Amino acid sequence: MGKEASNKNVFASKVGAILAAAGSAVGLGNVWRFPTETGTNGGAAFILIYILFMLLLAMPIMVAEFAIGRHGGRDVTHAFEKMSGGRRGWRWMGLMPVVSGFLVLSYYAVVAGWTLYYTYEALIDGFSGKTPETFTNDFVTFSSDSLMPVFWMALVIVLTCGIVALGVQRGIERGAKIMMPLLFLFILVLVGCSLSLPDAGKGLTFLFKPDFSKVTSSVILNAMGQAFFSLSVGLGCLCTYACYFRKDIDLMKDGFSVAAIDTLVALLSGLIIFPAVYSIQGLQPDAGPSLVFITLPNVFQQVFGNLPWLAYLFSLIFYLLLVMAALTSSISMLEMSAAYFHTNLRIPRPLAAVLVSVVCMLLGTFCSWSFGDWKDVTLFGMGLFDLFDFLVAKLIMPVGGFLMCIFLGWVVDEKVLRAELTNHGTIKSPLYPVYRFIIRYFAPLCIFLIFANELGLFNLWK
Ligand code: ALA
Repeated sequence: MGKEASNKNVFASKVGAILAAAGSAVGLGNVWRFPTETGTNGGAAFILIYILFMLLLAMPIMVAEFAIGRHGGRDVTHAFEKMSGGRRGWRWMGLMPVVSGFLVLSYYAVVAGWTLYYTYEALIDGFSGKTPETFTNDFVTFSSDSLMPVFWMALVIVLTCGIVALGVQRGIERGAKIMMPLLFLFILVLVGCSLSLPDAGKGLTFLFKPDFSKVTSSVILNAMGQAFFSLSVGLGCLCTYACYFRKDIDLMKDGFSVAAIDTLVALLSGLIIFPAVYSIQGLQPDAGPSLVFITLPNVFQQVFGNLPWLAYLFSLIFYLLLVMAALTSSISMLEMSAAYFHTNLRIPRPLAAVLVSVVCMLLGTFCSWSFGDWKDVTLFGMGLFDLFDFLVAKLIMPVGGFLMCIFLGWVVDEKVLRAELTNHGTIKSPLYPVYRFIIRYFAPLCIFLIFANELGLFNLWK
């Protein structure tokens, strides 16, 4: 990413920096992926492990990305070089965002496309009078179609590309200031609605009463993947943003705020989905990626059934906000790759954004078809959508996080790290020694053990 004046302005304020990071973090990962993963991984025990990983792995690695990016202050490749004390060899770490940007945006845009389509449906009052069964059938018909979901996915990428190409990040920041609190407010109201449904208690039991007999090695890997995905860490995306952070930002404190907001939104989304799943006939908590798209419209209809205009208004505004939350994340994904081509290969910014977009559209089309025409096309036993999700959340992000821990904990001069996290001694960071211990020993060891166990090298848990 070039150090354009417009980009610098985005992060000219502390609030702007936090909002940019929170905008990248909060998105479909919280409202769609968290309930999906919680549902397929058995509920409360998964959530507990996810929160632990959030605190002990994902958040410290997010702070690591912040430190590397801000210290470098130019772009990710240079940031790694500068943080390593000028060793050019470490610039390759800056390539991570390029590859991961393509992969993550390709399949993320498919789900964002579903969200955009549901916004359209809400706009034309397409939900009214439908039964839970119709919602389920309609989603299956839509998502398995060869053209419709591809069209909506492409539209999401075009919107994302337009914003990145124009570089109107100030607009996004201003929008986020209004949009994020509004989304939060709507989520709160929806939680209230969902909890008022009959049998909501069963959903609460699923969410909060852990059954540790359900914890397997893949549940642990999935919880780690969800924590990384939700905060967008391990990809270098936050590192890219942090290049534009101001020097007075308290990286540890503000990193904690972003992680806390992100976790809260995820838990609240669970509180919308699961009470409804257990209250509405025909819904299953382990429905997978379709869960949220089948459950949410049902909630609007069941709760506001007697006041159709309220159901209309509420679903329309909610989906609109969700699309915007998805866009603030997808923009950061496209930026990662486009910024590299723009800065390092000197391709004009709009052209770089278009090139990356075209490739993502192609890959996204294949991912979308894995719900329909290409259902039987598998690689390593997974459809393409699932494979991309696996590669990003359960492989690239944790491995990226592991490498950042090694880099920051063992390569970077401790004084440089301390100066970055204490703003050159101007702020007190009593937790710094704990942080350094986590980054140097705990986090890399933990990630290594989880992978080693998954690969069968150890048998710490089944
Ligand atoms: N962190 C982003 C999200 O949760 C990817 O949507």
